[in-house]
Amino acid sequence: MSKEKSNEIWGGRFVEGPDTIMRSINSSISFDQRLAEKDIAGSHAHAEMLAATGIISAADAAAIKNGLSSVMEEIKRGEFSFSEELEDIHMNIESRLTNLIGSPAGRLHTARSRNDQVATDFRLWVRDQIVETKFALTALIKVLLDQAELGADWVMPGFTHLQSAQPVTWGHHMMAYVEMFGRDLDRAEDARRRMNESPLGAAALAGTSFAIDRNMTAKALGFDRPCANSLDAVSDRDFALEFLSFASITAMHLSRLSEELVIWSTAQFRFIQLSDRFSTGSSIMPQKKNPDAAELIRAKIGRILGANVALMTIMKGLALTYSKDMQEDKEPVFDAADNLSLALTAMAGMVDDMTALPDNLKKAAGSGFATATDLADWLVREKDMAFREAHHVTGLLVAMAEKKNCDLQDLSLTDLQKVFKGIDESIYSVLSVENSVASRKSYGGTAPDQVRNQIKRWKRKLLD
Ligand code: ARG
Repeated sequence: MSKEKSNEIWGGRFVEGPDTIMRSINSSISFDQRLAEKDIAGSHAHAEMLAATGIISAADAAAIKNGLSSVMEEIKRGEFSFSEELEDIHMNIESRLTNLIGSPAGRLHTARSRNDQVATDFRLWVRDQIVETKFALTALIKVLLDQAELGADWVMPGFTHLQSAQPVTWGHHMMAYVEMFGRDLDRAEDARRRMNESPLGAAALAGTSFAIDRNMTAKALGFDRPCANSLDAVSDRDFALEFLSFASITAMHLSRLSEELVIWSTAQFRFIQLSDRFSTGSSIMPQKKNPDAAELIRAKIGRILGANVALMTIMKGLALTYSKDMQEDKEPVFDAADNLSLALTAMAGMVDDMTALPDNLKKAAGSGFATATDLADWLVREKDMAFREAHHVTGLLVAMAEKKNCDLQDLSLTDLQKVFKGIDESIYSVLSVENSVASRKSYGGTAPDQVRNQIKRWKRKLLD
């Protein structure tokens, strides 16, 4: 086993450096370098506060802030060399700051620990990621609204058990997803609001004996207030878990829409045509146009929910406060965030580009006895029949149509009257799919006017 020199930042009490394997398992710089910008913002705010409260001199704070800006520039230009020996982003930056400005750098860590530092950096990162996700969700909602508006009155089959159930409108179906992604948007905002408290100043776990101003750093970093309990501040990662839960639900919604796009674009359904931009060909079958983007988005839930389960399991059973286990919090969150953004953006592009085929939708809407419920409702309304009896009579008529291999509206009046004498010509009006959807005017129902009202409501809401 190799011997190394001890760590330059915390190595005071160590005679030997870490074993190579220890260094590998301990180091997080390969992934937490993504927190660099947040780390520097946190240090900037901390240095300013230390000067304002007289804990360090204004000259030292100015040197620190200048030095931090130079470090940020180096990182942005790709000139910063990240070192595994320095474990993580916090120590990499502090070490470089020391190289650049010398002794004032040693004062930056006054009244602070890596525990509150990492909790702050990570909260800032997750918070910004949520804001970005909200933009992506809003863009997706907008293209769904466009699709809904275009086909507010196109009839299509509505399904339960993936069996033809009742005719609905294309607009109504699109708007169902608008509702889902709209709730995701709310969940994201809700999580953002709750996590927006600053851990900075909680120090290692117990707070600090220095007269720091936590409100000042909280404000500088855009937090609503400082976390009220220092133990909680350094030890919980529920903010990341809320992000992952919201991300999992969103990914689940995306997977359902993807599945529908996959089914709808098959030669058997032909409800939609996906654009070439979001499809791929097959290397062997020349006729194929595969919905790969939809399939990949459908799969993203796997890794996003995986990240959620991973972090929940990492956190489960950890005694307060910080334990190194918590360093394992970042990679799942980064991966989930990247993939959620990608999936949302790809879905928005795909929905925007796709073409629904109203003739095919309509043809399918009429098949599978989709207006059977309308027929039963007609018997109740016009013939004062009890619904259970109407259900039975309609069932007999469906069986008859099935036997004759035709749709309900193709049965002759004589045939209809064989099952129930009271049926008259006017029944045909409810057997058409257009009349069926137009009649479902109840609030939230599929009637085109209802759908248009909902589109209007959403457009107003997005403008707020
Ligand atoms: N790299 C560490 C992490 O991500 C930073 C906090 C280290 N704290 C400590 N007490 N060792 O969790």
